[in-house]
Amino acid sequence: MIDNLFNMLLLAKQEPLVESETVAEVVDVATEAVSSFSADSWANLGYLAAAILFILGIKGMTHPRTAVRGNMLGAVGMLVAVLVVLLSGNVVSWPVAFVAMLAGSAGGVWLANTVQMTQMPQLVALFNGFGGIASVLVAGAELIKVSNPGVAGVAAGLTGLIGSVTFTGSLIAAGKLQELPQFKKPWSFGGQQFVSLGLLLLGLLLSWMMADGTGVEFVFLVLASLVLGAMLVLPIGGADMPVVIALLNSYSGLAAAAAGFVISNNVLIIAGSLVGASGLILTQIMCKAMNRSLANVLFAKFEASGPVADADDVYAGKIKSTSADEVAMLLEGGQRVIFVPGYGLAVAQAQHAVRELADLLEASGVTVEYAIHPVAGRMPGHMNVLLAEADVPYDQLKEMDEINPTFSQCDVAIVIGANDVVNPVANTDPTSPIAGMPILEVSEARTVIMIKRSLSPGFAGIPNPLFAADNCLMLFGDGKKVLVDIVAAFKEA
Ligand code: TAP
Repeated sequence: MIDNLFNMLLLAKQEPLVESETVAEVVDVATEAVSSFSADSWANLGYLAAAILFILGIKGMTHPRTAVRGNMLGAVGMLVAVLVVLLSGNVVSWPVAFVAMLAGSAGGVWLANTVQMTQMPQLVALFNGFGGIASVLVAGAELIKVSNPGVAGVAAGLTGLIGSVTFTGSLIAAGKLQELPQFKKPWSFGGQQFVSLGLLLLGLLLSWMMADGTGVEFVFLVLASLVLGAMLVLPIGGADMPVVIALLNSYSGLAAAAAGFVISNNVLIIAGSLVGASGLILTQIMCKAMNRSLANVLFAKFEASGPVADADDVYAGKIKSTSADEVAMLLEGGQRVIFVPGYGLAVAQAQHAVRELADLLEASGVTVEYAIHPVAGRMPGHMNVLLAEADVPYDQLKEMDEINPTFSQCDVAIVIGANDVVNPVANTDPTSPIAGMPILEVSEARTVIMIKRSLSPGFAGIPNPLFAADNCLMLFGDGKKVLVDIVAAFKEA
């Protein structure tokens, strides 16, 4: 029927529709085609529309300029998918679905209103985990209904494996991002990698057995996988967290895709695959940023770091501090200034203050740029999001590879709440937790101003010898307050 309609339309395109009978014929065939659509065909058409919206959404999110539209398209796609599911006649109990949606929406609104911007990375990690465990529950519920699941059973097993790993892994990742003392330090024991490998093999074996398995095997599989998730993330610390977060994001998508196979739901397969694939691409980007290979991360060969240098040895008698007035004077004589934002910018919510200072500098003829490290902050794109909030022009944001060779032509590099991403130890100490991570080479600038509240370490927990460098001046204080003071001093000067 569709072929017929398609041929009619092709014909109509080749021979312009002058005859009203031809138009009527096309309309008839179209009406017949549409009326012959089954409920499944309509649902699949809706899923196709949702999938197209997801893809356009992801495409939009590849550039800051189109990111908001991309986000909207993705959200509309999800709304379409949910509506199609609700209207497709497969809802087991409307009251249960209604209560669940109400509870989920209330939770979402509450979280959106209460979670601080700086806690977003933890929240995203939790969302990954909830996605993983939701897939496990869907697969488990389906298994209870079927006696000899066959291929769907294997898919359910894989859902149980990946979803459970995602759940505990993400909970621990959220704890690490929250810098909870219990999770802050990497934790491992001798032979941990072998235990993890054993659990993974057990999980795969049980998944295979799920072809004619029961709920009992599934429960064992889920328990083993929950332990595996914890084993994989507990030993990780320092600079490896960005890679792990991207990987867990990907796992949550793969779990959803596998659950889609279990319940034969096309949109779940498509959406899960999109999340899985984009998460893997992000993982690869993070690997490149951390100078690690994907294979190394996938096989979880996380190595313990060596002893941490004593802060007193690194800093004693070598720290020079400065004031907002002195910095304003320094900036007055400058030609080119580079701002280097880090996690502290997010904590201080100093993005608008930095924009105000940048505007003043530009108005007095200074060239201003922003150096963006791929893992600055606590989530991919964290700095881009913050600076976009303050309407910083996108063309002033420079990626690490582009800006690094130019620091030597910079008069003043102002580091605002960044620490690990400018720590030269990454290049000099192979036993440090950030060893091998490419850094922003701010020390090449004529003068470096470090804005932070104290000499405390960053996420990796190690001292930063840059603070003691000859050309580095520490400006102690909250990022926003200090920038506001510099703006005032610059205006007065
Ligand atoms: P960090 O190394 O974490 O340093 C942030 C610095 O900001 C701290 O030293 C802190 O010093 C300062 N700070 C905090 N609040 C401040 C405020 N109100 N005003 C001024 N300064 C403030 O940040 P980074 O350089 O952006 O590096 C990111 C780290 O997080 C890397 O180790 C990275 O691997 C890790 N990580 C990244 C991600 C992603 S995907 N981006 C995910 C997980 C982990 P004071 O306390 O002295 O002020």
